[in-house]
Amino acid sequence: MHNEIEKILVTREEIAKKCAEIGQQLTTEYDGKFPLAIGVLKGAMPFMSDVLRYTETHLEMDFMDVSSYGGAMRSSGEVKIEKDLNTKVEGRDLLIIEDIIDSGLTLSYLVDLFKYRKAKSIRIVTLLDKPSGRTAEIKADIIGFNVPDEFVVGYGLDYQERYRNLPYIGVLKPEIYGGEEA
Ligand code: XMP
Ligand code: MG
Repeated sequence: MHNEIEKILVTREEIAKKCAEIGQQLTTEYDGKFPLAIGVLKGAMPFMSDVLRYTETHLEMDFMDVSSYGGAMRSSGEVKIEKDLNTKVEGRDLLIIEDIIDSGLTLSYLVDLFKYRKAKSIRIVTLLDKPSGRTAEIKADIIGFNVPDEFVVGYGLDYQERYRNLPYIGVLKPEIYGGEEA
């Protein structure tokens, strides 16, 4: 599978170092609190797992699975909840954990939803940010890495459900996309 990768944008060593840094930052920020860490499935799974390993405060974990209608490689803004939280967010300090922010539509939907559900505070940590793709007003509080306007895979991110298990972030060879526009 690795021979389907054209180039590596973020190495596994860079990811590991960043996860440790962010985990320590969260330790400081949530000192004495009991935040609810919300992983956005499926892409945030490896990042959430690694970053929270370095976070030395008590916290609760839950997961949300959302999908956006329309194009496979870009979100349409119409978000559908595939799996909701099992936890009440009212009065809680929320930490949303995402793999990538592109248009920002998915996260702005989630932030609005959690505000409506009366969260006490909402912070966003994302492994990757693609600021060039932004259409919604949304900014992460903590960003691992900025990436250029290219479709990236690996470390949770997929193309047609593949490549999530790569230990790095990379770009596929163009022939793999089969002419689909990114
Ligand atoms: P929005 O546009 O709502 O998108 O911020 C967030 C979701 O879109 C997907 N996405 C990508 N997935 N490589 C991927 O594998 C990418 O380069 C990429 N850009 C956006 C992803 O599901 C993300 O949660
Ligand atoms: Mg996602």
